[in-house]
Amino acid sequence: MKNLVILVSGSGTNLQRIIDTIDNGEISDARISMVVADRECYGLERAKKHNIENVLIPRGKNFSSELAETIPANTDLIVLAGFLSILKPEFCEKWNGKIINIHPALLPKFGGKGMWGHHVHNAVIEAKEKQSGATVHFVTSGIDEGEAILQKSFEITEDDTPETVAEKVHLIEYEIFPKAINKVLNNIPI
Ligand code: GRF
Repeated sequence: MKNLVILVSGSGTNLQRIIDTIDNGEISDARISMVVADRECYGLERAKKHNIENVLIPRGKNFSSELAETIPANTDLIVLAGFLSILKPEFCEKWNGKIINIHPALLPKFGGKGMWGHHVHNAVIEAKEKQSGATVHFVTSGIDEGEAILQKSFEITEDDTPETVAEKVHLIEYEIFPKAINKVLNNIPI
């Protein structure tokens, strides 16, 4: 049984999807051993509702070192599911190959510092992109620069707004995130 630690900052719909797909077997032979939030958020409430061990480590300069002390040593994969703090390089190096993130765009486009949430979707619409999508990738010390594990796109229509793009991206995330987690846990080549 593989142990996942999930990091959240927001509503945690991707966390919910991970909980549900572990339950229905889409993600096989895994459990969430802990949810860590860097602020009060609904993601933390979801963990409580499902009786998953949950910890709040306030965001700030000591976050990565406190996280390093909090994460169980037997953790197989750390999953950033709508997590907004930047992890320190030493932390990323220690857990190299064992941290993944979901990004709401087609990396390497629309990634990097400041590119999160609505900022991404605003930028995509402003740039008149023909497509958007989501990317699951390994986390390295370079923001949004780690190797992609799974990516899926959709066509943007003339009627799309940042809000409708956000909704469509979320649906894609729910589809590819469990698949990517399963892939990494079972060492399936990317
Ligand atoms: C997702 O769009 C994810 O790509 C981004 O933050 C959002 C989190 O949504 N990193 P939720 O909290 O899982 O609903």
